[in-house]
Amino acid sequence: MLSWEPDLRTASIQREVPREPLCERAWVEVDLSALAYNIRQLKSLLAPKTALMAVVKADAYGHGAVTVAETVLQHGATWLGVATIPEGIALREAGIEAPILVLGATYSPEQIRAIAHWQLQATLGSPKQALVFSETLSDMSQPQPLPVHIKLDTGMSRLGTPWQQAIAFVQLVERLPHLKIASIYSHLATADSPDPTIMRLQQERFEAAIAQLQATGIALPRLHLANSAATLTDANLHYDLVRVGLAMYGLYPAPHLQTVVDLKPALQVKARVTQVKTIQPGTGVSYSHKFVADREMTIAVVGIGYADGVPRNLSNQLTGLIRGRRVRQLGAVTMDQLMVDVTDIPHLEAGEVVTLLGQDGRDRITADDWATTLGTISWEILCGFKHRLPRVAVGQS
Ligand SMILES: Cc1ncc(COP(=O)(O)O)c(C=O)c1O
Repeated sequence: MLSWEPDLRTASIQREVPREPLCERAWVEVDLSALAYNIRQLKSLLAPKTALMAVVKADAYGHGAVTVAETVLQHGATWLGVATIPEGIALREAGIEAPILVLGATYSPEQIRAIAHWQLQATLGSPKQALVFSETLSDMSQPQPLPVHIKLDTGMSRLGTPWQQAIAFVQLVERLPHLKIASIYSHLATADSPDPTIMRLQQERFEAAIAQLQATGIALPRLHLANSAATLTDANLHYDLVRVGLAMYGLYPAPHLQTVVDLKPALQVKARVTQVKTIQPGTGVSYSHKFVADREMTIAVVGIGYADGVPRNLSNQLTGLIRGRRVRQLGAVTMDQLMVDVTDIPHLEAGEVVTLLGQDGRDRITADDWATTLGTISWEILCGFKHRLPRVAVGQS
């Protein structure tokens, strides 16, 4: 048995074990100290009246929603944002009591009953949806009105009522029984762009809608507009609450925002070497032999692949870190395994750890590095790690 192999008669699957879980070939490490640090850094940008909503949809961008929610609520976040009802229910089932806003659309009576039952809060994006909510709730014995959040479309062209129709929409919801407007919000389409023109246009539209509502004498609820990029860009975009995802996980939405505040990436992806071998010149590596050795080389097989979330399109372009040194990945990334060139790493043995994303020694590979190579965004990289990789919490919560 290799030294790192577990005794399968006694090994149990643990969700949270210390650094380098012995029985795993690959895992995602989530640094709770980094999450706490990022929340404190982001809070330092906010006025005392501005609340921080931690956006923990998509399993907290791949970091593990319950652990992330518990950690960030301890460090100053007071709201949670999810995309779907099951995401909200999972948090409630874990005993989390903070207000949870479902940012996505909910339409059916079953969904509305679940929202009420689990004390979630809903986004209302259209008059029709508001009517279904009110009708469904009138059939239930809800003691309190359901808090709902009015979504205005100011230029994202996604969920929401067009900003020009804000007054009619808000007046309708105000008149409907069983509903209480908890906030009015909108979402920015270009906050990560160095060119602020469209963001400012969206803000002007939001402000115009709010001013018109104020003129009708409606008492304004909580207002919010900012995602991570807007939170980092300008305090005038913060209003009463900011909805922060990416920055809380320690990544910057755009290079020009990197100097605003220091953030630490919370997620690392690690895997183990499972075999080391020498190959001769002319030997092909992996499917389709997209890499052929031009000299004698030592290669290591690593226990992670595209079924874990390492994009196959990174084949032959990926690097890893072993003992703080860069190693080049060779040939096609396969479903569960990939190969790296370890010719320059002496006496490497099965069981050693390869960092695919994260820090080892002084070197670091980031989700932005992968995103740049792939022509995508770091959000997609983070959300891409599959549940086959256990999430292992490290650092102090
Ligand atoms: C409505 C809404 N608000 C806030 C966020 C958080 O965005 P970011 O990760 O850029 O902070 C998202 C994420 O997509 C969102 O959909």
